[in-house]
Amino acid sequence: MNQWSLRMRILTFCVAVILAIAYFSLTPVSVDNNAVISNDDDAIARGAYLVNAGGCVSCHLAVEDDGSTNPAILSGGHALVTDFGTFYAPNITPDVDTGIGDWRAQDFLRALKHGRSPEGSFYFPAFPYRSYAGLNDEDVLDIGAYLLSLNPVNNAVPEHETPWWLSRFALVGWNLLADLTGGREPELMTAQEESLLMQRGAYLARNLGHCGECHTPRNGLGISQLAREFAGAQIGEDTIEAIDSEALEEWDRNSFDLFLLLGMKPDADFVGGDMSDVIEHNTSRLTDADRLALAAFFTR
Ligand code: HEC
Ligand code: HEC
Repeated sequence: MNQWSLRMRILTFCVAVILAIAYFSLTPVSVDNNAVISNDDDAIARGAYLVNAGGCVSCHLAVEDDGSTNPAILSGGHALVTDFGTFYAPNITPDVDTGIGDWRAQDFLRALKHGRSPEGSFYFPAFPYRSYAGLNDEDVLDIGAYLLSLNPVNNAVPEHETPWWLSRFALVGWNLLADLTGGREPELMTAQEESLLMQRGAYLARNLGHCGECHTPRNGLGISQLAREFAGAQIGEDTIEAIDSEALEEWDRNSFDLFLLLGMKPDADFVGGDMSDVIEHNTSRLTDADRLALAAFFTR
């Protein structure tokens, strides 16, 4: 092979990579164009439930000037410190200037299921949209109905603090890599696992409750290794316990159910750290049926 054709090949390869990146970054994601946000009370009530079950409050709660937090208001400002920088959860009350007051159904679908902003740019995965990607459209629209029914609060949150090499544009590549190398969650296989209860539990654990965002190990690029779902993780200095079937050998459906309600473990110890927030703002607010489904899924 002569010098010239080698150079041509390298050049062709580089152009192909650039075109691929441009293609993925410029194509708007397609979502249901006919979807609309309802303003009826039932949709808003379902949305309120889903926002609790989805743990949105843990991140988007209001941070007052004196540093205290108010989980009843979703005006943002809470700092999420990660290995990839510090991210401030935005204001998701319907304020037009600093919140999501002008959002339409399609904006909610793109943000929660595809990690894309209304302007088409990419959200950092500090917003766990790769988990929320599996949500039903109806659930996302009910969440939108609830958020748009809240009182608008004017609050501009600080800019994210990220290392110089981390831009929103880099997330095109990150999401592609995550699709290619993240693997898939193990199939639910036995007849029992196929049951409706188990499906609901999986939906709550993997998608809405996004338990894996903390409990599933990540590789060096922060991509969740789904084949090792719930095998425990390292976040900065913190070790997050495994909650896979091996780790939960001592637990049964009832003890897991009680844990989701009160944060008490089978050995009567209470859980601490970020998990006590998850219990308070998220799992303790589930219906009995949803708590049971989660417990069934984890102790299957
Ligand atoms: C682990 C923390 C965390 C959780 C849980 C979380 N979010 Fe977020 N969310 C964020 C962060 C951080 C951003 C900003 C991402 C960025 O700027 O790239 C964000 C962005 C958003 C946005 C875009 C706001 C805008 O102005 O562009 C919406 C809408 C949103 N989240 C709604 C939700 C809903 C609804 C839930 C629950 C189903 C939820 N979030 C759960 C951290 C979180
Ligand atoms: C924001 C991160 C985060 C999320 C999201 C999260 N957890 Fe946790 N979880 C933790 C941390 C941190 C601990 C350890 C707490 C401690 O130090 O006591 C923990 C502990 C636990 C434990 C106790 C394990 C043991 O052996 O002591 C269980 C069970 C558990 N989580 C289940 C869940 C379930 C189910 C979900 C989803 C509904 C979930 N977690 C979502 C961070 C999280």
